[in-house]
Amino acid sequence: MPPQLVKVLNDSYQAVKNDGEDVIAGLTKNPKTLPPKYFYDDYGSELFEQICELPEYYPTRTETSILEKYADEIAQITGSSELVELGSGSSTKTRLLLDAYQKIGNSFTYIPTDVSGGILKNSVLELQEKYPDFFIQGLLGTYQQTLAYLESTPTPTRTICFLGSSAGNFSPQEFDNLLTQITRSLQPGNYFLLGIDLDKSKEILEPAYNDNQGVTAAFNLNMLSHLNWRFQGNFDINLFSHQAIYNQAETQIEMYLYCQENVTFALETLDLKVNFQAGESILTEISRKFDLEILQTQLEAKGLKVKKVWTDPKKWFGLILCQA
Ligand code: AVJ
Repeated sequence: MPPQLVKVLNDSYQAVKNDGEDVIAGLTKNPKTLPPKYFYDDYGSELFEQICELPEYYPTRTETSILEKYADEIAQITGSSELVELGSGSSTKTRLLLDAYQKIGNSFTYIPTDVSGGILKNSVLELQEKYPDFFIQGLLGTYQQTLAYLESTPTPTRTICFLGSSAGNFSPQEFDNLLTQITRSLQPGNYFLLGIDLDKSKEILEPAYNDNQGVTAAFNLNMLSHLNWRFQGNFDINLFSHQAIYNQAETQIEMYLYCQENVTFALETLDLKVNFQAGESILTEISRKFDLEILQTQLEAKGLKVKKVWTDPKKWFGLILCQA
């Protein structure tokens, strides 16, 4: 067993120091917003795992089908001895890559990173059992903390992977900043593997975020429950309802929580009171749908040379392998 299963990244790796500042900023804005990272307390991560299994939610299944076909090729091209994963969750899909690296047989380090401590610790324990020869260490922290840490620990054969289209949570400007940070965490010759959801019709997209069983609704509402325990809040989730719409102009899904009454809630440890008008919304997530060509140009402009691109037969999802 490694000395530290999960390393907790602290303030020295934190770009934004005060926990909750982003909540205050988002809830005092008009219209109101909240950062998607607050979906992922332990229960939220569990709900996301359930989303990945939903018949309407095609991204996980589609990306998995691409990895099943090409993981060996990815392992061979990169030949990496270190794989870092941003937002690893349960690392389920990643096992396909780990199997491929295991076949190559070099000494190998896997570094899953997440904001959710429970799922991170459990998956590190499981993976260490499944891959006894790998050195596995989780990093518990935000993307910013993780990338700051990675920048301070360069390795010559690193691959950073960012799967599941979590990049879609970033606005174009934020994504550009994230790419800058990722580039700083890579040495020349290191690799970056990016999984992204491609643009498609509203008839496929909207059901994927408004499933019949209401799992996505529960996932969205859980953000308020998370804020309640984290910041001593009193949001009444029964007064809110989930909605996801496809914004065609921005090519992004937008997830909202609508408040049904005129009401005030408080988050005590943030010293914050929030007023809602009946019908007012909080934007909890954008999930951008990408154009492969545009994205490749953007990556190249950041000094990330596109080595290879894979998609599924329907071109619903893309995997891009870049080299710094
Ligand atoms: C984890 C950000 C990729 O945008 O599809 C799933 C999150 N939200 N259903 C996505 C999510 C609602 C997911 N990402």
